Amino acid sequence: MQYIKVDNGTSIAQTAVDMIVQAIQQKPHCVLGLATGSTPIATYKELIKRYEQGNVDFSQVTTFNLDEYYGLAASHPQSYHTYMYHHLFKHINIKKQNIHILDGTTKQIEKHCEQYENKIKACGGIDLQLLGIGRNGHIGFNEPAEQLQPRTHLARLSKETVQANSRFFTNKKDVPQYAITMGVRTILAAKKIVLLAEGHDKAEIIEKLFQTGITTDIPASFLRLHHDVTVIVDERAGSKVNTAAKELR
Ligand code: F6R
Repeated sequence: MQYIKVDNGTSIAQTAVDMIVQAIQQKPHCVLGLATGSTPIATYKELIKRYEQGNVDFSQVTTFNLDEYYGLAASHPQSYHTYMYHHLFKHINIKKQNIHILDGTTKQIEKHCEQYENKIKACGGIDLQLLGIGRNGHIGFNEPAEQLQPRTHLARLSKETVQANSRFFTNKKDVPQYAITMGVRTILAAKKIVLLAEGHDKAEIIEKLFQTGITTDIPASFLRLHHDVTVIVDERAGSKVNTAAKELR
């Protein structure tokens, strides 16, 4: 895994956006896998800035989001649909038909998940997958467990994740307990993966990511099986990684 430690959140965003813009410039019809949460907000802001400066064109880009809360309609203020339009899509020239986000209200979960996988394949696979990481090591909503699911599926969120997500909801009882998420294999099928981690909260898990083996207790550890992963951290998230080396295995 390539490890890049930068000063702060702004530098994480700039580094990540350099990589995203390069991917789009090399392949204007590229397929991006996108994440939500607090971490990528600055990255989306920087992407919008580059778009407004005329440095990047999204007219041929296709996107697939990692996950969506189960039980929330697209129009819900806390849905990841709302998040993505608010933080990115409504500000850029992406075509609506090229945006793919899982439907949190589907009644046919298995069929919907299979169709999502098929759509990714039909688009030629994900060229660059952007990821955050949970404090417990989840990627997407693949939570630590005895077994991980390879493909897109309905996942029960861990207590820790529900607690972490509750900061976005006024009423604690409204925090979703389930999400539909890409599976670990779906994520690993991306050609390039860029994982972002910011803040002290993530220091422990980033240390574990590099210092433990591959284990379902830390779903992100499976990224070590991939040949092109870049982990971008700020000083705080990287404070426990005891190396200056750029290549970590
Ligand atoms: C979001 C997602 C999650 C988050 C993770 C970190 O689409 O898949 O895995 O990336 O929970 O969230 P933040 O960035 O809020 O700390």
